[in-house]
Amino acid sequence: MKGIIVAAGYGTRFLPVTKTVPKELLPVGTRPSISYIVDEFIASGIEDIVIISSRRKKALEDWLDREMELEELFRREGRQDKLALIAPPKARFSFVRQTEMRGTGHALLQVAPLVAGEACVVAYPDDLHVGPRPLARQLMDVYEATGKCVLATILEPGDVSRYGVVDPGADGVSVRGFIEKPALGKEPSHEVSIGRYLYTPEFFGYLAEGWARHEKGEYFHTYALDRMIAAGKVAFRRTEGERLDTGEPGGYLDAILRNAAADPSLRPILEAFARRELGLK
Ligand code: G1P
Repeated sequence: MKGIIVAAGYGTRFLPVTKTVPKELLPVGTRPSISYIVDEFIASGIEDIVIISSRRKKALEDWLDREMELEELFRREGRQDKLALIAPPKARFSFVRQTEMRGTGHALLQVAPLVAGEACVVAYPDDLHVGPRPLARQLMDVYEATGKCVLATILEPGDVSRYGVVDPGADGVSVRGFIEKPALGKEPSHEVSIGRYLYTPEFFGYLAEGWARHEKGEYFHTYALDRMIAAGKVAFRRTEGERLDTGEPGGYLDAILRNAAADPSLRPILEAFARRELGLK
């Protein structure tokens, strides 16, 4: 199974840094955020990863490649520890450039020829997952059991109107309906979809059909998802583990603090800060 990372977005919530730095390279600790997703895919058994990129994101391709000059230096110095830090992730990477920013549905159509005839896991780069069972693998488990598309969900995220909200079947697996960003009070449940999806080949057929009818504005995954739901071919998996939302500066800060709290070399600094600046004991 292939993994797709939808990484062509402008990242305008992080301007000015994203004027030149891809938001997927913004660090959580010393790791660029995209490496969380790459590692999740690899830990799930995915060996082929397709990055949907753009002309503004050349540094992403470089980050996933070898860095010869540093390799040479660290080899000369016998620094195995540093060599390990710069080793490219153990997967095959392909890059597809989205030449017009016309939404995630349009982005996915760019990779349809590469995933032809195969199910794939799609990740939005703002959603990071930490936990013992990698999230892509959790979706693959449900796909293997049902043969359906699978949405990763979380319960009670706070403001449900920021999300696609699932109408869950009584079996706790099937999806009966889906409303993208419902007005408050109109949500069918508090089970919301996060940026991890498993799509079957049939989904991509509907995606192309919807695009052919699409007139203006950005194009998302909802047309194809609605068709698949109507055919009874969508399931959901409530995420086990923790989801970090790095899509806006507050969530990104939370991810950094969480990382610092879990790192014995950084935690004392966080604790000292909390005492000094926040007056916490
Ligand atoms: C997208 C999806 C939405 C989902 C969300 C998760 O929205 O369209 O269904 O709930 O990601 O992060 P976006 O946040 O890109 O507006």
